[in-house]
Amino acid sequence: GTTLGASAAEKGRYFGTAVAANKLSDSAYTTILNREFNSVTPENEMKIDATEPQQGRFSYGAADQIVSHARSRGMSVRGHTLAWHSQQPGWMQSMSGSALRQAMLNHVTQVATHFRGQVVAWDVVNEAFADGSSGARRDSNLQRTGNDWIEAAFRAADAADPNAKLCYNDYNTDNWTHAKTQAVYNMVRDFKSRGVPIDCVGFQSHFNNDSPYNSNYRTTLSSFAALGVDVQVTELDIQGAPANTYRAVVEDCLAVARCNGVTVWGIRDSDSWRASQTPLLFNNSGQKKAAYDAVLAALNNG
Ligand code: G3I
Repeated sequence: GTTLGASAAEKGRYFGTAVAANKLSDSAYTTILNREFNSVTPENEMKIDATEPQQGRFSYGAADQIVSHARSRGMSVRGHTLAWHSQQPGWMQSMSGSALRQAMLNHVTQVATHFRGQVVAWDVVNEAFADGSSGARRDSNLQRTGNDWIEAAFRAADAADPNAKLCYNDYNTDNWTHAKTQAVYNMVRDFKSRGVPIDCVGFQSHFNNDSPYNSNYRTTLSSFAALGVDVQVTELDIQGAPANTYRAVVEDCLAVARCNGVTVWGIRDSDSWRASQTPLLFNNSGQKKAAYDAVLAALNNG
């Protein structure tokens, strides 16, 4: 193939990007988006603060715009994200206990229902584990509603959209030796053994000098896949965009049969949440960087 999406498709995968609704009017942006990618993840537009800014009042305009742009061009959509400690609207931040649990479950149900049939995979729960060596859950208002909040969210999403793939998504879970990775692995193993409806695990893969890529990533992906879930690289960006590291990530995914797609977290460096790290595949002018060539070659050779 001559584009990322077409080349990934030849390998039975997708190649996606995060998309911001307010950039869909930028033709330099949409030219690359429409040419190169066959999956999109709304960068912020499906988050809780965007979709339920006031309790019980749902707002889907920006998300619908992205979904419509994508689906009318044959791109699939990853939904991000239904339940998260961050980007909560003010009303939710101030809630706790059973009222918060009920509000969270209602949010999951409403949003998954709205997008039923349009989103192939949902990040049902995002970033629920703590960093560091504890292997513990992250403290949050959602966690304080009870340790079973994650499986409750998955069951609600499954009831609302039984055909979507339901994913757990997190960062710093790529290095197999890290406690956080093992903790998520143990949760997924437990969910599979008890029939909690989980289909996939997303590895954000925000690599930088503090959290570098490690060659045991392939072991991580294959170990999770062996539990009976799909795995996906969901938010890839790499400080400095070294071609070798981009190539390695793509090769790791291609080496694991159940790794069914890679998403980069933005198109041009200037679109990145870490723009100063120039971590993406296209420069600010929209030109392909060396990392782009490495990724395309890996997709075609792998
Ligand atoms: O839209 C408002 C704008 O109206 C306002 O003037 C401006 C001033 O701050 O803020 C704008 O909102 C910002 C939004 O991005 C859109 O640019 C928010 O402040 C800012 O917090 C938000 O950051 C996003 C961040 O998630 C929020 O948690 C990033 O774009 C987005 O890339 C980032 O993505 C996350 C994933 O969801 C989860 N994994 C980590 C990843 C990187 O942090």
